[in-house]
Amino acid sequence: MRLLVTGGAGFIGANFVHSTVRDRPNVAVTVLDALTYAGSRESLAPVADDVRLVEGDITDAALVDTLVAESDAVVHFAAETHVDNALADPEPFLRSNVIGTFTVLEAVRRNDVRLHHVSTDEVYGDLPLDAKDRFTAETRYNPSSPYSSTKAAADLLVRSWVRSYGVRATISNCSNNYGPYQHVEKFIPRQITNVLTGRRPKLYGSGANVRDWIHVDDHNRAVWRVLTDGGLGRTYLIGADGERSNLAVMRAVLRLMDRDPDDFDHVTDRAGHDLRYAIDPSALRDELGWAPEHTEFDLGLAATIAWYRDNESWWGPMKDTAEAAYQEWGR
Ligand code: NAD
Ligand code: TYD
Repeated sequence: MRLLVTGGAGFIGANFVHSTVRDRPNVAVTVLDALTYAGSRESLAPVADDVRLVEGDITDAALVDTLVAESDAVVHFAAETHVDNALADPEPFLRSNVIGTFTVLEAVRRNDVRLHHVSTDEVYGDLPLDAKDRFTAETRYNPSSPYSSTKAAADLLVRSWVRSYGVRATISNCSNNYGPYQHVEKFIPRQITNVLTGRRPKLYGSGANVRDWIHVDDHNRAVWRVLTDGGLGRTYLIGADGERSNLAVMRAVLRLMDRDPDDFDHVTDRAGHDLRYAIDPSALRDELGWAPEHTEFDLGLAATIAWYRDNESWWGPMKDTAEAAYQEWGR
């Protein structure tokens, strides 16, 4: 199988490429990645001899068409992904997430190639803190931020290309991922690397907001399940019953790093900050037999902390730039 992975030099995409190379020797992987601030060659260094990395943009229709024509399937991870960046400058989100997905769709339509589109649970907006409701594939789209609204737009494009043109595509909407190779702008790596660089960890607002955490390898195993056995045109929600408040995650990080669990700063809250995300993953479990393997959050978190301790050469060069942006935003 010849597989094109867009965004394969980013956090989830790189982990997907690593596990694919390790577990599926019959898959030939080509990565298409623009190597923005969020993607790097170093993230693919362990598999550099096993994959082809093409540096290019998903909005480049000629390039995308050429690569798609050479492929049996496309897994589309490439996107701008950070809510705080989207609030500061939404334009790249429109370009990469909307025009980029449109460009990928046109290429798979022309070449009749199978597509799996990777999306987020943030397209559903947020849930009240105290309710038992969770997102399902039937939940109404109600995105809050320029990030989630451009991902929602991309999902709707995929759905309409399935219906109007018969494109063979599936969509997955996953909850918050954690694990190695995540950019230090994101919540968990930011706190770990703040501790490692002698900075104080930063919690937005009171920390009552809830995220539903899943290990990146569990997400990627689910993507493979959907790619191989998912129903064409279907949407699958991926989650691992991992709801936790930001305050609880912050305290867990500090505890696992042998710090006082209250040794952090409360900083100005994010504008429009979504309260709670929670996934009902029963369709994926019941229909495709997927289940998460990383069921102990503390173990996965401890391994992630150990990875950041051991890989300062990977994250060190991006840390000061990320913190300079946060300083400008007062967060
Ligand atoms: P990331 O920001 O770490 O990586 C994104 C990658 O896409 C980078 O390598 C970047 O260089 C590349 N990219 C961006 N714009 C591009 C363009 N125009 N052309 C080519 N490449 C481009 O993101 P991530 O956290 O790995 O997320 C990957 C996908 O998973 C995204 O679609 C995101 O919406 C989705 N997702 C992420 C999470 C999460 O918790 N991180 C949860 C659910 C869904
Ligand atoms: P983030 O990793 O940006 O993911 P998302 O906003 O897409 O869920 O943030 C996760 C949660 O952590 C979110 O509620 C915002 C919060 N947060 C902090 O409290 N402090 C931080 O330094 C960051 C980056 C995020």
